[in-house]
Amino acid sequence: MKSHQWCQKFKLEKNLDGVLEYLENKMATCPFMTPEDHSLLAKNSRYWDWYTRDIENSEILDLLNTIEARHSLPINTEKTRIALWEYGKGDELPPHIDPNISLSSSIIISLIGRFETRLHDEMDNTKVLDKVIYGPGDYIILNNTICFHGGKPLDDYRLALVAFVDPSFDMSKFWR
Ligand SMILES: [Fe+2]
Repeated sequence: MKSHQWCQKFKLEKNLDGVLEYLENKMATCPFMTPEDHSLLAKNSRYWDWYTRDIENSEILDLLNTIEARHSLPINTEKTRIALWEYGKGDELPPHIDPNISLSSSIIISLIGRFETRLHDEMDNTKVLDKVIYGPGDYIILNNTICFHGGKPLDDYRLALVAFVDPSFDMSKFWR
């Protein structure tokens, strides 16, 4: 698999202060998942998700529309969700493939802290074939329903906003 077929990294060139302020308020008021609810969450991790259509914040919608238009990928439809993934110190994301039921690929927008996402060998999950490091100002598009991936935060705290590409969208042209 070529490097551009599992993960692509982009610069956002957008101020996310307003997005972060809105999300910090949601984090303080909305229920979240912990390792007891989600097998991929590590001990200091928390996870929130919402239907994209339930988000009324104009800065988030502007952010999603910008990315959607730039890559021609549907991330704001009736079926899509967005998520917030928080990592604490020492957390690791174990190698896995995500089911393609609710998404066809993921777009991970860094808000706080750097993260290393790795491509693992399908036959031997302990083998790392490639990796990408991204942080605030960057986002990645990840082929997470096809490729074995995992990773770890590189800072003591990491927060990312994740947008999912509509599950009915065929990503094969994007990843070729
Ligand atoms: Fe994943």
